[in-house]
Amino acid sequence: MTGVFVVFEGGDHSGKSTHTALLAASVRAAGYEVVQTREPGGTAAGERIRDILLDPATGDLDARAEALLYAADKAHHLTAVVMPALARGAVVVCDRYVDSMIAYQGAGRVLDVEDVERVARWATRDVRPDLTVLLDVDPRRAVHRIADKDRLEGEGVEFHERVRQGFLALAAGDPERYLVTPGMEELDATAALVHDRVMRILSRRAATLDT
Ligand SMILES: Nc1ncnc2c1ncn2[C@@H]1O[C@H](COP(=O)(O)OP(=O)(O)OP(=O)(O)O)[C@@H](O)[C@H]1O
Ligand SMILES: [Mg+2]
Repeated sequence: MTGVFVVFEGGDHSGKSTHTALLAASVRAAGYEVVQTREPGGTAAGERIRDILLDPATGDLDARAEALLYAADKAHHLTAVVMPALARGAVVVCDRYVDSMIAYQGAGRVLDVEDVERVARWATRDVRPDLTVLLDVDPRRAVHRIADKDRLEGEGVEFHERVRQGFLALAAGDPERYLVTPGMEELDATAALVHDRVMRILSRRAATLDT
């Protein structure tokens, strides 16, 4: 695969969607084909799965059932959107991916982290992002800003702190492929940092393809 796969991860309201859009725009302006997408969602089936997962009307969901819904969305999104885009050389910029599943369903909830990771990697054929940008925010500063809570946001600070530690552990395990940055820092400076990192990956990729 010749494209570049970039993912934004982090807790609720850490700035993922904002940065996904900023990076997609800046990389596109630099002349590259960009596919901006999100999980759950990003496909017709995925958006329907997303509705089930996030709608408070869904009520209690068995933890394994919830994890499998996320996994189903990821499997379909990878095959339908991410892989074809990477195969034709595009830059894929995705709002959440496997790490969110591990952090929320594994570290944050009752399921075993290794079980969740195995299911998530299986669903995504172990395709890993070239770069994961982790927007790290103290949940004590983030949670109180959320008035209109969805199912996951209704959880307490302790839950969000476990999720945060889950993300940080994943980043620590593979530092070369991560950029950990405090979310809610100056927006333009962070966006520029991420953009430069992606440009470096693209020029390295071009040099490899030339030889
Ligand atoms: N660096 C920043 N400085 C100030 N405000 C920010 C910054 N980044 C994001 N915001 C604002 O914070 C809010 C949440 O950002 P955004 O929706 O991008 O986060 P998210 O991680 O996608 O959240 P969600 O978990 O709800 O999808 C938005 O109103 C956005 O404009
Ligand atoms: Mg968002």
